Amino acid sequence: MKIVMVGAGYVGLVSGACFADFGHSVVCVDKDPGRVAMLREGRIPIFEPGLADLVAKNVRDGRLSFTDALGPSIAGADAIFIAVGTPSRRGDGHADLTYVFDAAREIAAALDGPCVIVTKSTVPVGTGDEIERIIHEARPDADISVASNPEFLREGAAISDFKRPDRIVVGVEDERGRAVMSEVYRPLYLNQAPLLFTGRRTSELIKYAANAFLATKITFINEMADLCEAVGANVQEVARGIGLDNRIGSKFLHAGPGYGGSCFPKDTLALIRTASDHDVPVSIVESVVNANDKRKRAMARRIIAACGGDVRGKTIALLGLTFKPNTDDMRDAPSIAIVRALQDAGAQVRAYDPEGVEQAKLVLENVEYAPGVYECAAGADALCIVTEWDMFRSLDFARIKATLRAPVLVDLRNIYRPEELRALGFSYVSVGRP
Ligand code: UDX
Repeated sequence: MKIVMVGAGYVGLVSGACFADFGHSVVCVDKDPGRVAMLREGRIPIFEPGLADLVAKNVRDGRLSFTDALGPSIAGADAIFIAVGTPSRRGDGHADLTYVFDAAREIAAALDGPCVIVTKSTVPVGTGDEIERIIHEARPDADISVASNPEFLREGAAISDFKRPDRIVVGVEDERGRAVMSEVYRPLYLNQAPLLFTGRRTSELIKYAANAFLATKITFINEMADLCEAVGANVQEVARGIGLDNRIGSKFLHAGPGYGGSCFPKDTLALIRTASDHDVPVSIVESVVNANDKRKRAMARRIIAACGGDVRGKTIALLGLTFKPNTDDMRDAPSIAIVRALQDAGAQVRAYDPEGVEQAKLVLENVEYAPGVYECAAGADALCIVTEWDMFRSLDFARIKATLRAPVLVDLRNIYRPEELRALGFSYVSVGRP
């Protein structure tokens, strides 16, 4: 099959490289010539484990290429995926569809034969209908089907999520869409990944519902963590105790500083907007968004309390800034709210992150960046684990304790055992554990 991927950002690049690896012929198109030049030189503009090798291999084998010219690339395409950004519109939380509709218009202008146009970008319900309308208006002669195929890729695990998905959701309105999408995903279908066909609007909603549900699960366990602290219970055991019930499931029940990232914050807001446009109350999702926002700030108060209630003039060392490990992504990372609240309270913030510093510099001010964990801790009044990078899981605490000004450790990801850290002489604070 010939596949065109419009947008060589995170989703487009991972999806394009994986489709190529299935044996399809893939052209990734991006408007940014700098990005295209970089990709052609084999440099990958994002941090995603395994992606550079996958791209290099498929480029070498002649199945994957990059261009900034959409028109010529779509000749003879069986499927054209739209994988451009849909950021939150400033002010109202609606998904901004400018890039999606621009792509639809450009595709319309260049169409030269029958094909299926697929939205991979996360788009509100009804966007497929609008794309169909735009294309038919520009090209009444166009012989197209419009499909929806949301992505469920976790940053840091995107390639395995793509190749070994729990399910593939495809929204189609006609037989041709269904046939082409079956062929696109045939390599996975052979591995028994369930291919779920639905109507297009249903597929669009599934993406938002999935992310809102996961965000709800995280927020629920975070509230349980607060309750655990108040009543002297252990949230990790509560999570295990409820998660072993198959109806609940054990995943996404790790209490922490609140969810961040490029999807949950944006998609929950967009779902609330869609619901309010249709006068449908989604009070659960609204509560989740509010509780999560409050939680990020509450984490700073927890650090301040661990320092005796006052951080003026103190140095707080943070380990991990990205919204989760194995990414350089800082979008809506809890660390942002934490750093700002600590600075507002008069603290100096020093931080170390294995991949996120460049991105962090774009959003945070007056942070001192340390070259490593131990340099970060040296002379600080407290050490705080904000993101659970693997390298933070086996720290040399004797060395850390010797250089910290006070042996205060705040572990917002619960990666250590309280009794062990206390035995080492730390004043140890975690989340939802006695
Ligand atoms: C998410 C979805 O998982 C993916 O399917 C979707 O398509 C894109 O959004 P991603 O944003 O990469 O993926 O990260 P994810 O691993 O889901 O984590 C999101 C946030 O929730 C992170 O800040 C993480 O730290 C937090 N989280 C996750 C928890 O606090 N507790 C958990 O148990 C799980």
